[in-house]
Amino acid sequence: MNASLSYAELNAAAQQFGTPLYVYHAEKIEQQYQNLLTHFSATQTRFFYACKALTNIHILKVIKNIGCNIDCSSINEVKLALHVGFSPNNILYTSNSVGFDEIVTAIELGVNVNIDSLSNLEKFGQKFGASKAVGVRIRPDVMAGGNLKISTGHDKSKFGIPVAQLEALKLIQEKYQINIRTLHIHTGSEIKDVAVFMKSAEVFDVLLPHFPTVEVLDFGGGFKVPYEPGEQGTDMASLGKEVNKAMEQLSEKYGRSLTAWFEPGKYMVSEAGFFIAKVNVLKTSGDRIFAGLNTGLNHLIRPMFYDAYHHIDNLTSPEKPTKQYAVVGNICETDTFAWDRAIPAIEEGDLLVFYNAGAYGYEMASNYNARFKPAQVLYQNGEVKLISRADQFEDLLTLQVPL
Ligand code: LLP
Repeated sequence: MNASLSYAELNAAAQQFGTPLYVYHAEKIEQQYQNLLTHFSATQTRFFYACKALTNIHILKVIKNIGCNIDCSSINEVKLALHVGFSPNNILYTSNSVGFDEIVTAIELGVNVNIDSLSNLEKFGQKFGASKAVGVRIRPDVMAGGNLKISTGHDKSKFGIPVAQLEALKLIQEKYQINIRTLHIHTGSEIKDVAVFMKSAEVFDVLLPHFPTVEVLDFGGGFKVPYEPGEQGTDMASLGKEVNKAMEQLSEKYGRSLTAWFEPGKYMVSEAGFFIAKVNVLKTSGDRIFAGLNTGLNHLIRPMFYDAYHHIDNLTSPEKPTKQYAVVGNICETDTFAWDRAIPAIEEGDLLVFYNAGAYGYEMASNYNARFKPAQVLYQNGEVKLISRADQFEDLLTLQVPL
């Protein structure tokens, strides 16, 4: 794999901080953002990092310092963003199924808000009328994304206001004179096909005449990044060209200066993250060799939850000829990371590295089986520093009422 951190750097971090360990690379995050700016430079486009992918405040600081905005999916993510120093107008809160109180808090904090139900929009109208600009999330009934669990725009999805309810949406808007500034569509994660993003532009084209106050078209996130060696992600140059073209056409057609927003999560941090674990046990069963690690679905659940592929390499002996392994965790569940994977020959005690671990890795980790969450470290300017420590035994008791 074409990794941004070397074996030596990854090994050094593991020696210093122990395993299991999440390692991130600040410069890679910056490089991804620069790519976006380059490809979308022709029109005014703003990017909001979807921080649900990874919310460590040191990562958020990297994001802020490179000039990227931030997208949040809970009021606590909004509070983390404010804590890191993002200014409210650079924060977007795309809510779903939230209590109206969270929307009120977000509006009072001065951040941009996308509302995803008619019910909350009605409450918004009652409370704020025309006094605050707001966005509405539309469900376009488009199937997109790597698999059903991460598809959000189809006609059975809970997300957004179904596009078929346009008339009801307009009635609420008119009743309270709501200032709808943003139309939002997010169809899914890991969308490779540029044409799928352009379907959102077609839906915007249908909606725009109904909403004369709209200035922002928010295309959501979902850019695909390569996971397997040789795999291609979304063709960002082509996407940039298409979006720039569509934005110019729509701006001209409706006589408004429209801005595009995007909310990339995986694109910003997936490839900037590495997860390192140690092989505790080798076990042979017939012609299969299990490599049992000092980690499990409690630290990286994507392979079990989404059948996600994470490339695995032997950090201790990357040059050895490969053999086939079933790579499994130590949780009391069937937590298989890879069933039949060619990996440079493994000995007990070797360190394995999982690639693409920056997005939805640590962020979805838990203390299942009363195991500790791992530490996280960040490489920046060639130096590595701790950005969150591993749990210790007392942490398992912290929230519990003493006996
Ligand atoms: N915007 C909205 C409204 C979203 O719901 C999401 C992701 C994003 C942006 C960012 O999508 P991304 O660029 O990261 O694909 N845990 C799953 C992914 C869930 C995505 C949820 N929403 C996984 O590990 O594949």
